[in-house]
Amino acid sequence: MFALSREDFALRLLGIGDGPASFNAELTAMGGRVVSVDPVYAFGGSQIGARFDAVSDDILEMVRRDRDRFVWDDIRTPEEMVDRRRTALERFLVDYEGGRCRGRYVAASLPALPFSGGAFDLAVCSHLLFLYSHVFDAEAHVAALRELLRVAREVRVFPLIDMEGAPSGHAGAVRDALTAEGFRVSIECVPYEFQRGANQMMRIAAR
Ligand SMILES: C[S@@+](CC[C@H](N)C(=O)[O-])C[C@H]1O[C@@H](n2cnc3c(N)ncnc32)[C@H](O)[C@@H]1O
Repeated sequence: MFALSREDFALRLLGIGDGPASFNAELTAMGGRVVSVDPVYAFGGSQIGARFDAVSDDILEMVRRDRDRFVWDDIRTPEEMVDRRRTALERFLVDYEGGRCRGRYVAASLPALPFSGGAFDLAVCSHLLFLYSHVFDAEAHVAALRELLRVAREVRVFPLIDMEGAPSGHAGAVRDALTAEGFRVSIECVPYEFQRGANQMMRIAAR
């Protein structure tokens, strides 16, 4: 999703809107330094797990119905997709309570983050900005990204499509606004595509 290199894994990473994913648990086990932020971390692990159980059948049904909107190369079936999500959730849950005590899982929300300027080298944000284009307008995207660029020197966002699977209507305006503010913005293809057409990330950094 983010075209991460081996060198990137050595950076101070921030994951925004990480939810019940295993990125933090796996990277920490590899010796990496990562903090995940999500409002859902105000809840305990059992509540987060219960929420997954409550929605997983609906997600499976939705993906079966909209099968053509996904690329079935790496993940071969809707059932395998849910199994993989569950495996990620289980890895997350094993790590969560201890990681929360150590400050690796922080309950907070964009556009205001509880970190000092330059606390991170790289912030990554998957399946939140641009995907939720119907929730956040272009201005809210710019405010969120400005805040991310305050705490991290580089930000990568994936994907650039909206919930309908169409290119987000905000990507152009966000790129132009941040470029006008002096940031270097590029849109790059990445080697990951599960939602059809979702194979690009936005990279933003100070000039
Ligand atoms: C679709 S999930 C993506 C989870 C994970 N990044 C992934 O790709 O599997 C979107 C996540 O964004 C979180 N979220 C919603 N509003 C947010 C905000 N204002 N700031 C940070 N995270 C937010 C939600 O709680 C949810 O966990």
